[in-house]
Amino acid sequence: PVPLVIDTDTAQDDCVALLVGLLDPAADLRAVTMVAGNVGFDQQVRNAFLTLNVADRDVPVHLGCRAPLMRPWVSAENVHGDGSGGLRMDQTGLEPEAEHAVDALIRLAAEHPGELSVVAIGPLTNIAMAAAKDPAFVRNVGALYVMGGSNNARGNITAAAEFNFYVDPEAAKAVFAAGFEVTVVPWDPLTLRDAVFGQERLDAISALGTPLSDFFTRVCAPTLEFDRSVGIDGTTHPDSLTAAVLLHPELVLRTGRYHVDVETAGELTRGYSAMSWGVHGLEPNATVVEAVDAEAFHTYLRDLLATPTTPA
Ligand code: BDR
Ligand code: CA
Repeated sequence: PVPLVIDTDTAQDDCVALLVGLLDPAADLRAVTMVAGNVGFDQQVRNAFLTLNVADRDVPVHLGCRAPLMRPWVSAENVHGDGSGGLRMDQTGLEPEAEHAVDALIRLAAEHPGELSVVAIGPLTNIAMAAAKDPAFVRNVGALYVMGGSNNARGNITAAAEFNFYVDPEAAKAVFAAGFEVTVVPWDPLTLRDAVFGQERLDAISALGTPLSDFFTRVCAPTLEFDRSVGIDGTTHPDSLTAAVLLHPELVLRTGRYHVDVETAGELTRGYSAMSWGVHGLEPNATVVEAVDAEAFHTYLRDLLATPTTPA
């Protein structure tokens, strides 16, 4: 199994991505690291523990940066609500670790040099901080899978920008300049074409009737409502797709090599991801996922959600 850390702003699809890390036998999830993003930081931590509880797994959770590097935090509560569909959990005895997320990332990468994979599905603040604090971190991380940006296409928080890169553009820019082996799962066109679960797929999941499928339906409900209100015909799953393509590269149908950079100064383009192909003469620094087998991804997640668990 792949030694793995998931760096997350846990709400909705982040919860599903955590389930991938927790339950897929191809993953050896060593830690969950938390970063400011989707919803209030402490609520994100509750959402992560809820997810561990429903999966019946205990993995160290480390608290990370509570704000972007240089800007005030921007949330997406209008999309995610509290990120858990209003679920509450009685005390489970699950507590975060004392070690900061940035230090945990650095330590785990040093313990598995060249082998640790990091799946970063929130703003890139913790990852940029780890690279700045310990340059060996970049070398020690075997693979960095990032959910963020769009491939010269639509944003979701502004016309130009996807949420994760918009919230902390300086961190995203630093990560692409740092020399990581990066794979990017972008918002558009990839997510909007290959990782939207419409009614038929959602019905197939709720028909499973497992604690995990009930959890999925519940946490995805607010986002489903939001997505439908803006004309997207289902819930979007870029974060779980990012974890899934790392563990199962056969899901990927096409990738491209790009030079990726992130706009930090633009008036209308804060967080825009410039993905340049060969014609611009820039050395590629990232692999961008361009197409996946959407049906196989859905089947994969459905099968994962069929896993029997005995949560508290
Ligand atoms: C990304 O932003 C968040 O709202 C989602 O969890 C995902 O990581 C999509 O832009
Ligand atoms: Ca996320």
